[in-house]
Amino acid sequence: MSELLVYGSYGYTGALVAEKAVREGLDPILAGRSRETVEAQAEELDCRERVFEAENPATVADYLEGVDVVLNCAGPFVHTAEPFVEACLTTGVHYLDITGEWQVFRDIAERDEHASATGVMLLPGVGFDVVPSDCLAAHLHDRLPSATELSLALGGMGGTSRGTAMTMVENIAEDGVVRRDGELVRVPTAHEDREIPFSYGERTAMAIPWGDVVTAYHSTGIPNVTVYSETHPKTVTRLRRFRKLLPLLGTTPAQKLLRWLVDRRIDGPDEQQLDEGSGELWGEATDGEDRVVSRLRTPNPYTLTRDTALLTAKRALDGDAPAGFQTPSTAYGADLVLEVSGVERTDVGGV
Ligand SMILES: NC(=O)c1ccc[n+]([C@@H]2O[C@H](COP(=O)([O-])OP(=O)(O)OC[C@H]3O[C@@H](n4cnc5c(N)ncnc54)[C@H](OP(=O)(O)O)[C@@H]3O)[C@@H](O)[C@H]2O)c1
Repeated sequence: MSELLVYGSYGYTGALVAEKAVREGLDPILAGRSRETVEAQAEELDCRERVFEAENPATVADYLEGVDVVLNCAGPFVHTAEPFVEACLTTGVHYLDITGEWQVFRDIAERDEHASATGVMLLPGVGFDVVPSDCLAAHLHDRLPSATELSLALGGMGGTSRGTAMTMVENIAEDGVVRRDGELVRVPTAHEDREIPFSYGERTAMAIPWGDVVTAYHSTGIPNVTVYSETHPKTVTRLRRFRKLLPLLGTTPAQKLLRWLVDRRIDGPDEQQLDEGSGELWGEATDGEDRVVSRLRTPNPYTLTRDTALLTAKRALDGDAPAGFQTPSTAYGADLVLEVSGVERTDVGGV
C-alpha cells in the first residue's frame, strides 16, 4: 500500500485534511515539529506519527523513509517548502502542498528539470489556492487558445485561519506582482482595481500578488496574468494612501506585533462556516478581439482546500503522478475541480 505523510497535520487546515483522510479510510502518517501535539493527534485519530523539524533537507529525507507522497500543510511555505522539495527529490517521494505564495511556486518551478529526471511530481498549491483558479485558467484557455491576457478574480471569501493570516502578515510589506509579456513584474500594492461582475453583483476588486501569476502562465502559456481579489473600495483607497508606509510593517517589531494580534484574535472558520460558506472565482481571457468569461462557484475555501488536497493526494498515491513541476490542471486537467462536491462552473459569455 502507498504511504501518505501529512506534515503540519495538527494545524487548522492540516487537521481538517487528516481527519477527513482517516474518515475516508486512508491511513496517513501524521507529522509536525511539536511532539506533544502530533502524538496527541495521532492517538486521537489512531494513526502513526513522525516528529521532525522542516529545516534541513537531509533530516527531512531521513523521516521520509517508506513514504510515497508528502502533503505539506505547514505554512508559511516560504520556510517549509524548500527543505521538503529537496528531500523529496533525493528520496523519490512525490511532493504536494497547499501554498498560495507566488515566490514558493516560482522557486519550486525551478526544480522542474531535476524532478522530471528523477520521476518526482512537484505539485504545490493543491488547496483553494490554486486548484479552482488554475482549473478556471486552463478552461478559459481551452475556450480561447489564442488568448494573450488572463484576468482572474476571487470573490465572496469567508473567515480566515491563523496560518493564512500569518502568511499574509509575512507578505504584508511586499509589493504586488503581475505577469507581463511572460515575465513576473513587481508593481505597487493595489496598483490596479476593476469592477468584476460576480454572480451576486458587480464588486470592486484589486490586483493582488497571487500564485496564479506563476501557475496560470505555466498551465496556459498566456503571457499576461493579473489576479484580483474582491476588496472594499475604501480599503483600496487607504492602501494606496498609506502605500509608502507598508514597508514599515515588514520590520521586526511590527511583524512581532502583527503576529501577536493574529495569535490572539484569529481562529479558523467554525463548523457552520465550513459547511455553509462559499467562494467564487471569475475569469476572463482575451486575445484583444475575442473574449471568454467563466465563473466557478465553490464551497468554503477551507472545505475546498481539504477536499482538493485529499483528491490530489489520492491520485498521487494511486500512482497518477506526472513527473516534474506540475500545476493542478497540468497534472489532472481543467475539470479536476469539478470532481469536488459543491463546485459549479458556468460559462458566462464570450464576445
Ligand atoms: N491553498 C489554500 O487555499 C490554503 C488554505 C488554507 C491554508 N493555507 C495555508 O496553509 C498554511 C497553514 O494554514 P493553517 O490555517 O492550517 O495554519 P495554522 O493553523 O497556523 O497551522 C500551521 C501549521 O504549520 C506548522 N508550521 C508553521 N511553520 C512551520 C515551520 N517553520 N516548521 C514546521 N512547522 C511549521 C505549525 O506548527 P506549529 O504549531 O508547531 O508552529 C502548524 O502545524 C498557511 O500558510 C496558509 O496560508 C492555504
